[in-house]
Amino acid sequence: MPMQNVRTTPIEGQKPGTSGLRKKTGVFRRPHFLENYVQSIFDGIGGIDGKTLVIGGDGRFFNDAAIQIILRMACANSAAKCIVGQGGLLSTPAASHLIRLREADGGLILSASHNPGGPDADFGLKYNGPNGGPASEAVTDKIFERTKTLALYKIAAAEDIDLEQLGTHRLENMTIEIVDPVSDYADLMQTIVDFPKIRALFAGGFTMCFDAMHAVTGPYAHAILEDMLGAPQGTVINGQPSSDFGKGHPDPNPIWAKTLMDKMYGPAAPDFGAASDGDGDRNMIVGRGAYVTPSDSLALLTAHAHLAPGYADGLLGVARSMPTSRAVDRVAESLGIACYETPTGWKFFGNLLDAGKVTLCGEESAGTGSDHVREKDGLWAVLLWLNILAETGKSVSELMADLWSDHGRCYYSRLDYEDVETDRATAMMDGLRAKLDGLVGTEIAGLQVEAADEFAYLDPVDGSRSTGQGLRIVFGHGGRAVFRLSGTGTQGATIRIYLEQLQTEAERLNDAPETALASVREAALAVSDLVGMTGRDAPDVIT
Ligand code: G1P
Ligand code: ZN
Repeated sequence: MPMQNVRTTPIEGQKPGTSGLRKKTGVFRRPHFLENYVQSIFDGIGGIDGKTLVIGGDGRFFNDAAIQIILRMACANSAAKCIVGQGGLLSTPAASHLIRLREADGGLILSASHNPGGPDADFGLKYNGPNGGPASEAVTDKIFERTKTLALYKIAAAEDIDLEQLGTHRLENMTIEIVDPVSDYADLMQTIVDFPKIRALFAGGFTMCFDAMHAVTGPYAHAILEDMLGAPQGTVINGQPSSDFGKGHPDPNPIWAKTLMDKMYGPAAPDFGAASDGDGDRNMIVGRGAYVTPSDSLALLTAHAHLAPGYADGLLGVARSMPTSRAVDRVAESLGIACYETPTGWKFFGNLLDAGKVTLCGEESAGTGSDHVREKDGLWAVLLWLNILAETGKSVSELMADLWSDHGRCYYSRLDYEDVETDRATAMMDGLRAKLDGLVGTEIAGLQVEAADEFAYLDPVDGSRSTGQGLRIVFGHGGRAVFRLSGTGTQGATIRIYLEQLQTEAERLNDAPETALASVREAALAVSDLVGMTGRDAPDVIT
């Protein structure tokens, strides 16, 4: 079979962002675009000669075709073996687990996460290392550097592999093993949460709705929730993965998971609702009439994780991304465990997890995870919640009320301004950055500024330093506003403003979040002059 060395030239704009390379699907399908990037990954990690890779994606448009190209390139680059999810499917956490379980040298995950899919929507590709986690900044830098000098890529001229056919295939000297995407992951879940206990919960009439949002967790949720845990058929909705996610936006938040929200706030609401995103690493938790913010979910799981068999010995520590609310800090303090603050993006948790410094970690953007894999894990979070609900016998709203009365409530919201002209967004951030030093001690919209800085992170494990990780302004009485530019957008700039306000007074724990956050929001808009600088008078998405 001929191996081809195809001459190419560097393609601009192949810099990986917060989570791999994300572009419009049409960009990924341009001549050489995918091939250049894949070869840069292979070269950037020092070659794949004799190595084993895990490959799978979230099933979005171009998933299969891209996998066929990657397999032919892996073959031509002398990989020993590729382990591929059947039908090209692997949720991101399942891929992370498979890399670890099979002691593979790494993996390629095809996904643009919660971004829509389709020929005119988004596509993405991410390299995860041998620990199962997203490549570190050092590795992504090497990959990016390689994209700038690439002169050829290697590809085998071969027929497509049948990705539906379980078992072993051969492509020249390379083995391709097609595996069931669900079974190893389901086995892992049984070692962490108490399946019999959750089965008994469902047997007792507990009701749930899991919205898979036409994305990759459908097969996982059908198998685990309905087949293994005995939840009634119909518990999982939108459970068939589709290449354009049913024309939806597979982002589990109150805006995009509106069907689920309406159900949970309606007259016949089930006891528990949950959703996950395109590639299955994010989760949304909602009780009957009770939406749980991701920051609060992390705090709740931290407080009760010991009720699940996997965490019966307690937690080593916890970590959250900087913009995530400080609710988990308060729980960690009461448990006497460390709480780390990292930059946005899962890659920063890897070292802490590998070094045994933390057991749980999470982000405000609906990501929660633990040391069982090196990615956030949507279904795992849902199962841990179910385990806690089963053990405590309390409802979601009772659990939240207890959490807030014990630790205070961190009201939280994120405002997203999407597709802002890049120059204007950068100018706004530059303007605010320049002001930071002078803000401390002043009053903005009636709030006293206690601290203001640009977040930088010194990794306590490898000593690496990441700068420019978001502007933060801390107000008196537990208020905070954080400003960042998104690193996952595919068009223009997305400005994110993260608002937080702590409340400890018992009679104020059930305020409307908009009311509780009104002052911090006013201060954030005033100090940044966002409206004047960007011409936007309202955010596109509020979560
Ligand atoms: C967003 C989220 C971040 C998450 C990332 C990948 O990144 O904010 O928490 O890790 O997606 O899922 P951003 O677009 O803000 O850079
Ligand atoms: Zn995702």
